[in-house]
Amino acid sequence: MIYVTGDTHAGTNIAKLNSKSFVENSLLSKNDYVIVAGDFGIVLDIKHQDRYWLEWFEQKNFTTLFVDGNNENFDFLNSHPIERWRGGKVHMINDSIIHLMRGQVFDFDGIKIFTFGGAKSKGIERKVQNGSWWKEEMPSEEEYKEGIEVLERHNWNVDYIVTHTCPGAALECISQYGVKGKANELHVYFDELNKKVKYKHWYFGHYHRDIKLSDKMTLLFNKVERVI
Ligand SMILES: [Fe+2]
Repeated sequence: MIYVTGDTHAGTNIAKLNSKSFVENSLLSKNDYVIVAGDFGIVLDIKHQDRYWLEWFEQKNFTTLFVDGNNENFDFLNSHPIERWRGGKVHMINDSIIHLMRGQVFDFDGIKIFTFGGAKSKGIERKVQNGSWWKEEMPSEEEYKEGIEVLERHNWNVDYIVTHTCPGAALECISQYGVKGKANELHVYFDELNKKVKYKHWYFGHYHRDIKLSDKMTLLFNKVERVI
């Protein structure tokens, strides 16, 4: 089984996955997956309390997958070798926590999931570079290009898409719920993909709400939704 949920921000928004909230945990195994749609955040402060949360996730019955958000320690993520897993590039944080890299398609026994993390932080002038903010939060030209090439190889056809932020059209739609945000190049890139890619459902996080925008697009925060 595969579930998807929104930002966890290390321990801050993790309650949705504790055994009391996510009762399905008791029925799962390490061959089942929960995908966090960015701002996993566990590895922002690896020397201190994050060790605790890494162990917390290891003790869960499921394997945790995450796309990166704007609140990740990219020095830590990129200190791991790039490996191939289910057809896409990953960083194996440990046996049961896997970072799904940008512009990749993962094959879960015939179900294809396209992932593309990243987002722009607000208020970066108050943040410390490589301490609480990393320039890698936004994709590089190579990552944008790789996403296109990978989708081309899959004939622009996947089952699900998981990203941290969303297409510009979705951003406009969630503004009616009081979500404020200005579209940037990543939203525009996703608008292009949204026009071109055939998919069943697109899940994203970042905006800290649970809103089903349409039959094909959902913003997740505290909901843990079953994908398959
Ligand atoms: Fe975010």
